[in-house]
Amino acid sequence: LTAYLNGRFAPLGDLSVPVLDRGFLFGDGIYEMIPVYNRTPFRLNEHLGRLAASLASVRIGNPHTLAEWRGIIETIVARQPFDDQSIYLQVTRGAAYPRNHAFPPEPTTPTVFAFADPLTPPPTQLVQTGIAAVTQADVRWLRCDIKAISLLANVLARQSAVDAGVAETVLLRDGKLIEGSASNIFVVKDGVILAPPPSNLMLTGITYDLVLELADRHGLPHQVRDITEAELRGAGEVWLTSSSKEVLAIVTLDGAPVGNGAPGPIYKAMYQHYQVFKA
Ligand code: PDD
Repeated sequence: LTAYLNGRFAPLGDLSVPVLDRGFLFGDGIYEMIPVYNRTPFRLNEHLGRLAASLASVRIGNPHTLAEWRGIIETIVARQPFDDQSIYLQVTRGAAYPRNHAFPPEPTTPTVFAFADPLTPPPTQLVQTGIAAVTQADVRWLRCDIKAISLLANVLARQSAVDAGVAETVLLRDGKLIEGSASNIFVVKDGVILAPPPSNLMLTGITYDLVLELADRHGLPHQVRDITEAELRGAGEVWLTSSSKEVLAIVTLDGAPVGNGAPGPIYKAMYQHYQVFKA
């Protein structure tokens, strides 16, 4: 598997970063995950736009132009033995000594890392049955809009799901639906698709934006507004979205059925629209 580190393409197993890298010491960096279908990156401009926004939010200078980023991704994609890929990009503030929380006085060279995993879109069976999820209080910081690599709270939240034998943990803050540990969450109430409003409390997914765009394009009623915990629990449908999971129906929440416990009609319509758009 060919990966990329700081200007060099090499087998993934041959690459390593210095222990003083601030990504390693502080989680001081940001990342992106870009799906690739049939060797074509999906929503690439949107992902690179969000990458630039994440970098600006944490005051790391963008180490590459748009054209350079495209070139790195193109090379990685071309060198894998599989057609559907998940491209991971990470930029950290780089290595500095001595260890100090504050930015190093001398500007560091950001560490740029990229690699590809095989991407397996959710199998038809999962699309047809849906998935189970649990809920949990959102204990993360107040800048969840940044796609930061410091993901300890997300890691613990996802592990709670695994421990409970389900696929995702849905996070609630102050009685409101926020998002999943690594996904955005939609709700359908009285036939209307509801999406939590983008804010500092959640990551605005590229898939989230696309689902709203598809709802618009196909005339599916939708509303972006706060969703209460009661609305989540009483919803006719609940969906999860992410670049790797696309759109999946959550049919069990904390052990209780969502709606009639099966993927709903609006989910099925959206899933179809997504597949057509992707193709
Ligand atoms: N995560 N919210 C969080 C906290 C996420 O980590 C993700 C995606 C999303 C959905 O974003 P998008 O639609 O752009 O994938 C929402 C990626 C897949 C990851 O951590 O690997």
